[in-house]
Amino acid sequence: MVAGESPRTGTARSGGAGPRVRSVHVGPISSSGRPRPRGRQGRSRMNNVLEQTASTLATARAAFRHFGRFLSDQKPLLARGALATGLVTAAELARPWPLKLVVDSVLRSKGTPPPGPLAGLSSEQLIWFSGAALVLIPLTIGFFTMVAQVTLAQVGRKVTTRIRRLVCEHLQLLPLSFHHRAATGDLLVRIFGDVNMVRDIIFAGWISLIQRLLIFGCTLGLLIWIDPVMGLLPLVPIPLLAFSMRRSTRRMHLVVRKQRKKEGGAASLANQLLRQIHLIKAYGAEERSARLFTNLARSGEKAGVQATRIAAKAGLQTEVLTGLGLGAVLLVGSHRVLSGDLTVGALLVVLSYTRALYKPLRKMARDGVRLAKAASCAERLIEVLDLPPEKKLQGAPAPSFRGTIRFQGVRHRYTEDRLALHGLDFEIPAGSLCVLQGANGSGKSTTLGLLLRLLDPTEGEILVDGTPIRQFALDSYRERFAYVPQSDLLFSGSIRENILFARPDATESDVEEAAREACVTEFATSFPEGLDTEIGEDGVRLSGGQRRRISLARAALRHASILLLDEPLEGLDPKARREVAQAIRSISRGRTTVVVSHTQVEDLAPDMILELREGRLLGAAG
Ligand SMILES: Nc1ncnc2c1ncn2[C@@H]1O[C@H](COP(=O)(O)OP(=O)(O)OP(=O)(O)O)[C@@H](O)[C@H]1O
Ligand SMILES: [Mg+2]
Repeated sequence: MVAGESPRTGTARSGGAGPRVRSVHVGPISSSGRPRPRGRQGRSRMNNVLEQTASTLATARAAFRHFGRFLSDQKPLLARGALATGLVTAAELARPWPLKLVVDSVLRSKGTPPPGPLAGLSSEQLIWFSGAALVLIPLTIGFFTMVAQVTLAQVGRKVTTRIRRLVCEHLQLLPLSFHHRAATGDLLVRIFGDVNMVRDIIFAGWISLIQRLLIFGCTLGLLIWIDPVMGLLPLVPIPLLAFSMRRSTRRMHLVVRKQRKKEGGAASLANQLLRQIHLIKAYGAEERSARLFTNLARSGEKAGVQATRIAAKAGLQTEVLTGLGLGAVLLVGSHRVLSGDLTVGALLVVLSYTRALYKPLRKMARDGVRLAKAASCAERLIEVLDLPPEKKLQGAPAPSFRGTIRFQGVRHRYTEDRLALHGLDFEIPAGSLCVLQGANGSGKSTTLGLLLRLLDPTEGEILVDGTPIRQFALDSYRERFAYVPQSDLLFSGSIRENILFARPDATESDVEEAAREACVTEFATSFPEGLDTEIGEDGVRLSGGQRRRISLARAALRHASILLLDEPLEGLDPKARREVAQAIRSISRGRTTVVVSHTQVEDLAPDMILELREGRLLGAAG
């Protein structure tokens, strides 16, 4: 099992028989951002909750460690964004001063003189100056806010694409055992939905948080400079605010995790419903499936509403607390104006700054909740990214094999409780054609999977040309094989593109020859576009036998030392069977070939036959 994977694959069934919805469970993340072993049975639920919730900030740090590097070459754009943000902050701070100037230096009979550079101006000029400033300041704020937003959106888009690519690449590097447990829909939610949220955590969230802290710090400094008593008064509700924010953040973290899991489940189900549309229609299961989907989507929706409620509640608490603070400033400030300790203009500035002080706080409360949301999504991505990939480059490069295959006491188990292979011992001489036979579930495909190192044996050793195969670098080792999987795996695209997948640099004539060998040409020429015919997603526009032949042509194109063909003759008509069997014989010449086949063994004229029963080798003939 992959480190960090849970043996419990989460399943959800809602009402009646229907597609099973799996979602990938790769274990919760520790505060260091690494997967943490599952909690012991006896551990209290409360402990679990606290541990998980306390990790929001740690996850944010882990997210920054994982994804922050994508910002490093965006420095010029980031600098432009930071400069624009700085100018917005300065303009915000200048906002209340024109009003003070007019109230204190023009409107009051014994007004305070205007500051230095404005000292020589008449009242009329001061009024015009203040009016112009009141127009210019919002203009500056609006313009630079626009610049900052556009710049940061540009960076954000780039970062999102890069993270998406990283996750996508990593998913492909994870071993097959991970993909057996994971649900495609859930992985898609991670790649698309979660990545968008993570952009907030490593980027937009921090930038706006820093901007708001800057505004907060400068405003506070100015307030204390104007009047130390009045400057400290607005700080009174802040501890309460911090407390309320902390609570909302923790709750949000849990709820969003739940929401994303549900959404992943719903996406998985939708994916299955669409892929199995034949079955749904044939069994008249449209309504039943739609109900199943609605139930799952609804549970995600509930968690979504819960998240919105937490955010709204946090907003309400912030409004109440900052309202109290503003009231206190007005109360104390008015008394200080009446006792002559403060001018009216200064009170106006203090009130305005108090409001300006609370504005970033209110936004920070919102940001905090948003960051908690993003942290939950980041956690889901880091879970996947922290899983060890297949070690493709470790080991010696595989030479061109002669192709002697030896299994020594090979056992394999997919799950803890059951062995799929119970100790296989056999040798296939180099260059021979071996047929692997056995009933359904006897372990034939598993044997091929082990040989190709899609799976690792639980016990025992597999050797090729006398060398244990785990000593070879995986990349170069797999290059020596051509493989036809049991179910035809085709991509959307043309027939030619699907064949070329085995060797993208193959020439036109190589492709045509492979197509001829695998009896593809025969049916492709009946299409107007020939080999360039588009076959639809998974080759949906072709018949089963036609798909099979394309898989074979793909294997024929590969320059491989060893051919592994899982039921290559399945689904072919008698004529095609004979021809494909003939083609297998011809492409297997000089290569070791293992063919899984129930029937038509005589067409293949194998050198040896291995028979499996319930994971054991029953006998070898040849
Ligand atoms: N991904 C998996 N997870 C758990 N068990 C599996 C998995 N794949 C196969 N098995 C089990 O391993 C055993 C061998 O499966 P395998 O696919 O190798 O059989 P097979 O001989 O190829 O059968 P068939 O002729 O039906 O293709 C079966 O009992 C099957 O249930
Ligand atoms: Mg099989």
